[in-house]
This record gives sequence, structure tokens and C-alpha cells, in this order.
Amino acid sequence: MWRPVFLMFALISHSLSEELPSYITPCSRNVPNLNECALKAAKESIHKFALGDKSRQLPPLDPLFVEDITIYIPNENGLKLIFKENYFHGLSGMQVESLKFNFEKRIITTEAIINLDVANKYDLSGKLMVVPIRSNGDSSIKLKNTDLNVRMWYEHYTGDDGKLHWNITKHDVKYEVEKAIFKLENLLGDKNIGDQINKLLNELWKEIVADVGPLICQSLTKAVVKSLGTFLEQVSFDEMFPE
Ligand SMILES: *[C@@H]1O[C@H](CO)[C@@H](O)[C@H](O)[C@H]1NC(C)=O
Repeated sequence: MWRPVFLMFALISHSLSEELPSYITPCSRNVPNLNECALKAAKESIHKFALGDKSRQLPPLDPLFVEDITIYIPNENGLKLIFKENYFHGLSGMQVESLKFNFEKRIITTEAIINLDVANKYDLSGKLMVVPIRSNGDSSIKLKNTDLNVRMWYEHYTGDDGKLHWNITKHDVKYEVEKAIFKLENLLGDKNIGDQINKLLNELWKEIVADVGPLICQSLTKAVVKSLGTFLEQVSFDEMFPE
């Protein structure tokens, strides 16, 4: 007897729009400085949002898991470096620099600065001056002052509750990294060679980031936009921007 009733309740409550969580202050759509108000609300809520909210099906974004990242140094005939089990820490500390809602074109644009610390494992193989080598162990990457510019296109649709909801239909991202710092621990069990390879990686950081940056940025942005989309589907336009 219990189960069907509970299920029905769950279904009903899911199709009704939820109120804004207490950590988000709504902005009236009639204020002249709506984007400023939205930016303030975003700055105040981003930390909580990034930590996730089970009751709203929002997963934690900090740390964020990213699939294998493969780098060739300096090309496929040299060394192959795979970073595995990548956990990106720092999204909950992001600084939202701007947030703009264009209701006419239905575009949300935002800029955020993030300092990311990646804890991962490396697997290095290939040839170092014609000598085949292989090594693996713990590693870390620091991405200092990553500047993300994200555009999200949305549509409105009428939910089961008769209210106007949001649907993010696509997004794109531009990014810039101020500096990347790589550290591979215990390379080949030889401190001298290890230091040399780490030095080489850190000299080549710009090329490496140019190579793997798009994949990393897309993974990060996709996760954030997915969460934001889940959140926006739950709240109605009226709740976010009341009269
Ligand atoms: C949201 O947009 C996606 C992609 O355009 C579409 O497949 C989906 O049906 C839309 N959802 C709603 C509820 O309108």
C-alpha cells in the first residue's frame, strides 16, 4: 500500500516547479540593473551550488571527475603521457565576474575565473633520447587563473505546472589559462631524470594547454551547464525573475 502512494507523490512533486533554494535571492525582472542583481545573486550562491544539492538532483561539482587526458611530447614519436583519475578541485571557489541575461535573444553569458588543482595519476611511456621508458605514479596539475567565458542559449517551455520554464539548448566556451604547473612524482624512480621531465613539461605548458585545454574546458563547462540546466528546468521564469 505504501509504495504506490509514495511513487505517485514523488511523480507529482517532481512535475511541479520547486521554489528557489534559500541560498538564491531572486531579482525582479523590472529592476533597471537586472544583470547586476543577477551577478550578486550568482556570487552569493555559486559556492553552495557547486557543492551540489541531492534534493534537486544536482551533483557536486567540486571535485569534478574528468576522463583520461593524453599528451604527446613533443609529438607522437616522443613521449606519451596519460593523466588518469583526474579530479578537478576548485569549481566551488570560482569568481563569477559577469552574468548577463538577454531575454530577447534568449542567451545567458557569463565570465568566471577559477583556480584549479587537479589531483591525478600519470602513465608515461615512449622514448626519451632513443631509450624506451615507462613510469607511472601520482601527479598534479595546477591551472592558475583560468578565465572562462560561457554562452548558453535557452528556450522557454510551459511545464506541467502551467508555468514558463527554462531549457538550455546549447552552449559554447572560450578560455584562457594564465599558467599551468605540472608535477609528476617519482618519475622512473630517478630524481635527476624526474626533475628533467618535469622541467620540460613546465617549459611546454602553453603548448600542452593548447592541446588538451579544449577537452578539459569542455568537460568542466559541460558538467556546470548540465547542473545549471537541471536547476533551471526546476524553477520557473517567474520564480527567478518575479514581477
Ligand atoms: C530541451 O531542448 C532539447 C534540445 O533542443 C530538446 O531535445 C528537449 O526536448 C527540450 N526539452 C523541453 C522540455 O522542451
